[in-house]
Amino acid sequence: MTPATNPLVAFGAGKVILLGEHSVVYGYPALAGPLSFGVTARGVPARSCQLDVPATADAAQKRLMRKAFARAARMVGEPKVKVTLEARLPLSAGLGSSAALAVATSRVLLQAAGQVPTAKATARLAWEMEQEFHGTPSGVDHTTSAEEKLILYRRVQGPSGVTGRAREVKSPRVLSVVVALAGARSPTKVTVGALRERQARWPERYRRLFAQVGRLVTEASKAVEAGDLEGLGDAMNVNQGLLAALGLSSPPLEEMVYRLRELGALGAKLTGAGGDGGAVIGLFHEPAPAVVKLTAMGVRCFSSQLAGPRAV
Ligand code: MEV
Repeated sequence: MTPATNPLVAFGAGKVILLGEHSVVYGYPALAGPLSFGVTARGVPARSCQLDVPATADAAQKRLMRKAFARAARMVGEPKVKVTLEARLPLSAGLGSSAALAVATSRVLLQAAGQVPTAKATARLAWEMEQEFHGTPSGVDHTTSAEEKLILYRRVQGPSGVTGRAREVKSPRVLSVVVALAGARSPTKVTVGALRERQARWPERYRRLFAQVGRLVTEASKAVEAGDLEGLGDAMNVNQGLLAALGLSSPPLEEMVYRLRELGALGAKLTGAGGDGGAVIGLFHEPAPAVVKLTAMGVRCFSSQLAGPRAV
């Protein structure tokens, strides 16, 4: 084990799921991309391996963060580093804040242990932390954050446990979304658990809906690759209808979806776990005017480019 000598800094991106949340837990594909906002972790040499938990976290969050950190630290031989975190991302809103934290922290821990924080090594370690945060996540959040690309992701049940398969989806066009927050939401674990109960009771009905979402995700990835933003937007709208059918939408989320469509979104839907509230995304040719109008209405929102050629 190599002790850390210099300050280490690493970033973990938040994420949005363009299509396929929830059905991804059942082995169907999801299309997800990284946000430009996320969590920064800093590591400085210390006597032992420690996490300085953010003061803004509540007691339960702090406990969970310490447990997740200890699990990842053990995997890399507990390098002598003290890690501090700075989040520039709304927490518990469905934007992958725990995955961003796990990825940023894993990158610092790997470097402190003298290892190269490749996307694969980072994702492997962040997965350990995500399991403490979410129980049995699909893996789409931390994989998107570690890869920092628009990806088509699928959870795979192998002989030695759950893994994920990801491939980059390249967009010839700028792919920008407006992310708007619509009220507080229940923890992901609760929303995922409630759907699991309905699915266990009426498996065939829910399997049909998940399979429909899976087909939409495949069509949406092809639309992205072809530069067909209208086709992608329509797939997002239909996905929103199916998420509502799965019992994952609510009045605050629906209201925000309709607001975004009125403002010219090519497609709009909830993103992440959904439920009582949370984040909604709208796909726009030009997001800035919608952000200005929503902000004037008092809505917390921002825009982010998920893929496509970058301005230089
Ligand atoms: C949460 O960002 C996405 C869900 O599909 C849960 C998961 O994939 O583990 C709701």
